[in-house]
Amino acid sequence: MSHVVYNCRGRGTITSVAKRVQTLNFENQGLTPWLRIMRDGEGLDSASTDNMTITLLATYDGVELIWHELKQFGLMGFNPSSSAKAFEGIVVLKGTLRVSWYDHTELVGPGATIAMSPVEDAVCVIAMEDTEFVYISSIPLFQAYKQWVELFHKMATEIAEKDGYTASHCERIRKYSVLTGCELDLPARDMVSLSCGALFHDIGKIRIPDEILRKPGRLTPEEFDIMKMHTIYGREMMQSPLHPFLHVGSVVAEQHHERYDGSGYPYGLKGEDIYLPAAIVAVVDSYDAMTSERPYQRPKSKQEAVEEIRTLRGKLYDPRVVDAFLKVVNKFDSL
Ligand SMILES: [Fe+2]
Repeated sequence: MSHVVYNCRGRGTITSVAKRVQTLNFENQGLTPWLRIMRDGEGLDSASTDNMTITLLATYDGVELIWHELKQFGLMGFNPSSSAKAFEGIVVLKGTLRVSWYDHTELVGPGATIAMSPVEDAVCVIAMEDTEFVYISSIPLFQAYKQWVELFHKMATEIAEKDGYTASHCERIRKYSVLTGCELDLPARDMVSLSCGALFHDIGKIRIPDEILRKPGRLTPEEFDIMKMHTIYGREMMQSPLHPFLHVGSVVAEQHHERYDGSGYPYGLKGEDIYLPAAIVAVVDSYDAMTSERPYQRPKSKQEAVEEIRTLRGKLYDPRVVDAFLKVVNKFDSL
């Protein structure tokens, strides 16, 4: 399997069988096994989250036909597979997909086909609105894909709960980051890193003791030193051989608290030495933190938060990112 969808959902919303998909077992129904007709909303197997549904429509001799519904700013990243070479293709049925590879970007709509035989470099597919498409693969990957979707959801929920956020926090950061990344026209590889890294940027907090993570009020310098380690822990966890699909986001987790003027952590990197996707998450995460209800802080209005980020352009935040952020921030509410 060479692809994955970076999404995280509200608590408890993932189901192994989608709510709207009726799973059929043709053999038990005594129907003709070699000729199957499935109506809209029917399939052999399905996994679903708040904004994505994958449905296995057919499988034969390793080939799979999978129906995808991907809501706005959901992302599929295709990466070269080291284990198997496969044909992978998408036929767009509804909505607009933004496809990028190397430094090319193209928007495609219903009737378009994307064919990769095999995937040789990162390809990033983003749903610019709610989309539906059929995905075809010459190797079986549905079950692995379903497991990954479920694992991603579980991990994202775990991070959110550990940090005392609502579970929608990580998905919000991911969508805002992807929107800002589109404005910056990031190359495919960086966009895939951004989506994965934004979703799991605080994964390292799982290793920070609760009494520090949830302490109301200011941390002591010693406590803050421990807190800063969540960036290093995050990189380590995302580079784990257990989770190869997280590797692409590890630098974002490591650098999302670096600041443009060198005042950030863990390394005090400056300016364009900071990985651009991490600089995007820095702005978006700060904006979300400023406008979120936290036990020790009155949330700023959106306007106040935007003004603060504008003021810190070129100081804490990369000017390229702030300029892109200011162009798209008005769209955040509709996501
Ligand atoms: Fe963080």
